[in-house]
Amino acid sequence: MTDIRTVGVIGAGQMGAGIAQVAAQAGFDVILSDIDQARAEKGVAGIAKLLARAVEKEKISAADADATLARITPVGDVAPLAGAQLVIEAATEREEIKRAIFANVGAVLAADAILATNTSSIPITRLAQAAPDAGRFVGVHFFNPVPVMALVEVIRGLATSQETVAAVEAFASKLGKTTVHAFDAPGFVVNRILLPMLNEAIFALGEGVGGVVDIDTGVKLGLNHPMGPLTLADFVGLDTCLEICKVLQDTTGDPKYRPAPLLVKYVEAGWFGRKTGRGFYDYSGPEPVPTR
Ligand code: 3HC
Repeated sequence: MTDIRTVGVIGAGQMGAGIAQVAAQAGFDVILSDIDQARAEKGVAGIAKLLARAVEKEKISAADADATLARITPVGDVAPLAGAQLVIEAATEREEIKRAIFANVGAVLAADAILATNTSSIPITRLAQAAPDAGRFVGVHFFNPVPVMALVEVIRGLATSQETVAAVEAFASKLGKTTVHAFDAPGFVVNRILLPMLNEAIFALGEGVGGVVDIDTGVKLGLNHPMGPLTLADFVGLDTCLEICKVLQDTTGDPKYRPAPLLVKYVEAGWFGRKTGRGFYDYSGPEPVPTR
């Protein structure tokens, strides 16, 4: 089985940085790559902040935080990923972007290295067509916030080898995560169930069934969820929610997955949720304020 010592992570956004953090905390050397050095460094700065908070709360020692950070190398291109035994792509959830990345990484990837994607819904078998070797290509789906969420979904494409699956399972387990297996169907297990719920909450808001607070409080207290669905949609990113709804709709042809018109409108307005400062809540003040 591939002996994973160095992990490459492509994309230093909230998912990529989270994956880099947990891998470094588990003792792996990490190369965190983005389209330029500044973005990669911004990802590391975010990790440093979270680690500092954990030190403050006495969850980890200052020495452990420093050692974790020292294991992460930010880079502005893909060439250094040649030194990784496992590369995890966590870029924007758009197929053409992922395909272009796989072409670039394919040119430098070591012959026995595994390429994994953190796609939240795009079929692995289809993405594998753009990967250097479909046998060493696999889905590893982390959840946000990565340091907190205990699950990794492992998705095997039609051509993914058993050794590849075993290697990423062993890796996830070293990160302290529990794995579940999902068949390569649109949305896999979790997003297949989550996205219709978030989308339905947005339909309900658009139809005036309740306001933002009614819907969020209703689900939070009525179903004992840690976050209401509109808070969660803002947290995941409304652009990402829309992309996943589109993948579910396009790949199944089933109209039950059609995106709520209000979701489309918010994305058109550039209101992507937390990351842009506005979604179903306004995040510009000290506390989020509902916008409807
Ligand atoms: N990064 C790292 N750690 C974080 C964090 C972040 N962004 N946000 C919160 N935490 C940590 C806190 O430091 C705290 O740690 P501690 O217990 O060691 O002190 C712990 O999480 C709890 O945080 P808080 O007390 O501040 O807040 P809450 O109790 O409200 O918990 C939450 C925050 C963990 C985010 C909780 O609200 C939650 O579980 N929400 C649901 C998240 C969820 O459903 N995620 C999945 C999204 S779907 C997805 O990712 C798939 C994708 O493909 C779309």
